[in-house]
Amino acid sequence: MTEIRPAAVEDLPTINAIYNHYVEHSTCTYQYQPSSAAERAAWFSGHDEHHPITVAVRAHEVVGWGSLGPFRTREGYRYTVENSVYVRHDLQRQGIGQALLRDLIVRARTLGHRTIVAGISAEQTGSIALHEREGFREVAHLKEVGFKFEQWLDVVFLQLML
Ligand SMILES: CC(C)(COP(=O)(O)OP(=O)(O)OC[C@H]1O[C@@H](n2cnc3c(N)ncnc32)[C@H](O)[C@@H]1OP(=O)(O)O)[C@@H](O)C(=O)NCCC(=O)NCCS
Repeated sequence: MTEIRPAAVEDLPTINAIYNHYVEHSTCTYQYQPSSAAERAAWFSGHDEHHPITVAVRAHEVVGWGSLGPFRTREGYRYTVENSVYVRHDLQRQGIGQALLRDLIVRARTLGHRTIVAGISAEQTGSIALHEREGFREVAHLKEVGFKFEQWLDVVFLQLML
């Protein structure tokens, strides 16, 4: 049973551990260096009530997290959010990412946002499949805008109108 709830400060070490695994091993994030505890704390306090951070909990353990962040900072973009979903690497394909994403979609609607954008590295077919299954559609494919692990990477933007 997976429960989704708003993240708390106490969750930050686990959130960071889940994320930093992918920094070191995956092109799903283009970050090269793991985030420090201080950077994670700043990220957390930079999210306001319009931009929630959530965690997935199983048997009292945080096993994934999701967030809605501003798509861009100028005021006119304030009804557009960009989502993130990260599941602990050894617990993939058990429905946790889907539960987190579905919950984020409900929260975005409730908060009055207009649309969610997901920017996904093009070779991350599992992530793209997850988003498409929840109704996101590809609206742009940017060629070789990323570079990690000695390769150029395309980014696909998918969008869900709320
Ligand atoms: C992408 C990610 C969030 C998916 O979460 P997950 O818990 O592993 O996926 P789920 O079990 O919820 O999958 C739900 C559906 O999405 C699709 N899907 C998920 N992973 C898939 C994969 N590797 N290949 C194909 N389809 C996949 C399937 O339709 C799946 O349903 P099914 O298992 O019944 O076929 C997770 O793999 C992850 O954290 N990846 C690294 C970080 C990342 O890429 N995040 C997204 C960027 S915002």
